[in-house]
Amino acid sequence: MMMKKLIICVSFFTCTQVMQAQPLVVNADKPTAAIQPTMWGIFFEDINFAADGGLYAELVKNRSFEFFNPLMGWTIQQQSPETGTVLVTNRLVQDSSNPRYIRVTRYTSSGKFGITNEGFRGMGIRENEQYHFTVWAKNESGNISLHVQLVDSTGKSLGESQEVNISGNEWKQYETSFTANATELKAKLNVWFEGQGVADFDMVSLFPQHTWKERPNGLRADLVQLLADMKPGFLRFPGGCIVEGRELATRYQWKKTVGPVEDRKVIVNRWNTEFAHRPTPDYFQSFGLGFYEYFQLAEDIGASPLPILNCGMACQFNTAEVVDTNQLDPYIQDALDLIEFANGDVTTKWGHLRAAMGHPAPFHLQLLGVGNEQWGPQYIERYKIFTKAIKSKYPDIQLVNSVGPDPDGEKFDFLNDTLRAMHADILDEHYYRPPSWFQDNANRYDNYDRKGPKIFAGEYAAQSVATVSPLNKNNWLCALSEAAFMTGLERNADVVKMASYAPLFAHVDGWQWTPDLIWFNNLYSYGTPDYYVQKLFANNKGTNVVAIKSNNDTIKGKDSLYASAVIDAPANELIFKIVNTSSKSVQKQINIDTKKKPVDKALVTTLQSNDLDAENSIAAPKHISPNTDEILVKNKQLNITLSPYSFTIIHIKLL
Ligand code: AHR
Repeated sequence: MMMKKLIICVSFFTCTQVMQAQPLVVNADKPTAAIQPTMWGIFFEDINFAADGGLYAELVKNRSFEFFNPLMGWTIQQQSPETGTVLVTNRLVQDSSNPRYIRVTRYTSSGKFGITNEGFRGMGIRENEQYHFTVWAKNESGNISLHVQLVDSTGKSLGESQEVNISGNEWKQYETSFTANATELKAKLNVWFEGQGVADFDMVSLFPQHTWKERPNGLRADLVQLLADMKPGFLRFPGGCIVEGRELATRYQWKKTVGPVEDRKVIVNRWNTEFAHRPTPDYFQSFGLGFYEYFQLAEDIGASPLPILNCGMACQFNTAEVVDTNQLDPYIQDALDLIEFANGDVTTKWGHLRAAMGHPAPFHLQLLGVGNEQWGPQYIERYKIFTKAIKSKYPDIQLVNSVGPDPDGEKFDFLNDTLRAMHADILDEHYYRPPSWFQDNANRYDNYDRKGPKIFAGEYAAQSVATVSPLNKNNWLCALSEAAFMTGLERNADVVKMASYAPLFAHVDGWQWTPDLIWFNNLYSYGTPDYYVQKLFANNKGTNVVAIKSNNDTIKGKDSLYASAVIDAPANELIFKIVNTSSKSVQKQINIDTKKKPVDKALVTTLQSNDLDAENSIAAPKHISPNTDEILVKNKQLNITLSPYSFTIIHIKLL
């Protein structure tokens, strides 16, 4: 029987302490399940302006005039109608992937004439940063030049380029750079045309010089840094329902996202019209961030790439269109070719393209998702055909398969039973559920078949109000509940091979779905409390599970405590994670059962708030973030106070 003693302090509720006499015992010398290097990873989807307007550092929206409204995001600036015209022109016959461009005619060299781009809810511009402008252009007649200028919301100049002359009637790329003189969250770009004549323009682009790894066509460094800091085991891309499309015609097709950026065909983003309460009519996919860049990003941050491919099914929440099973060949060929693109020798067709894009070495693809969040017998029919084709050519590729949108119920049971009977490799479970579900399900995997398919907890997030409610918050209750649940994932690392929170990113002015792991505006970004939970698990992954018990029982919710423990064999470290979901402090004695000698000080990292509604924000990005401290270890024993509503990680070196 557990003995409890309640210590009530004067007035302040956090002073209430529970002394739990029953110690926790960690069996440090008996490593059990190996923790996969992939265990804690990242789910990336182009939702909430995650790619264009977010991770992809391009500042110009609708740079190639391919949105439904070709001039969406642009305004024409002229002193009088006589100064000039902008004509949207379509060269469909010559260029079907980037058909439109603009023809600019200046009738007179006097008076101002130009076009202004509003960016993605403005452009984030930093003082002293260099900006690199490029444009494809050709001269048709006369003599046209241009210069570009960044302006703030009042029209004040933030810096401008030298003049660039457009010469010759062949399409060529022109470039110029300039430095900004001030910082502005919502700047705009003016492109001023000078001279008299006619010239054509396309792919109007502006990038900051400082992208991630300073790459041209690069990614926003602050956002990648947040991902790199997680030390993720895998990167799943590009989604999510974006893989499926609302209809098959707008599904994600990786081959259209590689090669020169100007040849990547822009299509609508499926989240553009998904939610009537969050319409985003200017949400398209430029694919400037395409499959090559995703593989490169995975490599940069040390994550295994996990692409998810369309399996001949459009989103079942939308049109639910399927491709006839006897017409699946192009879809299957896309999967086979993707493996060749990632891993193939440079002498192969797709390996050659990878090398030509700058990466002769393989990307070491080992995991591939067949379909996103599919369900029903139609998925099984297609899964069988894909699996046969992929496994017969690439038997070592591990396939990730959907078990539907819910963690239980008819759809889940059907796919779970069927795919297990078919010996699927990895089952991708999704749970968008209330915080209480996460606390109640810390034991979810305790009784899973140890010999069956491995589990990928592929999309999960506690929903403070309801799934897809725009009122959902990334509050501390959600994050704490996820931490409690994740101790159960870790404890069951022999079954759970991978896990990722979803969705990943959201622009504060351009989101459709909440909650999300990382929020950003055009200049700044912050990790939510959920982010810090993910990061702490991933940074303290260890190599093997060890038992942590109380009275010989695993700790999965009794007395509001949840715990898991691992050893990191190469580092000779014992790491345990304890979540206290109660409003009271809990004092705990922890005994380390080991023949080794623990050093006399342990490192304690705590994520805590007394306010379950607390959130981080652009103004207070680290309101809830980890604190570290030390604690004494004596006679293989330590005594710790677990604060109310806290997630604690303890690191002890074993000599
Ligand atoms: O993460 C948001 C969406 O939730 C994903 O696109 C989809 O897979 C799931 O329904």
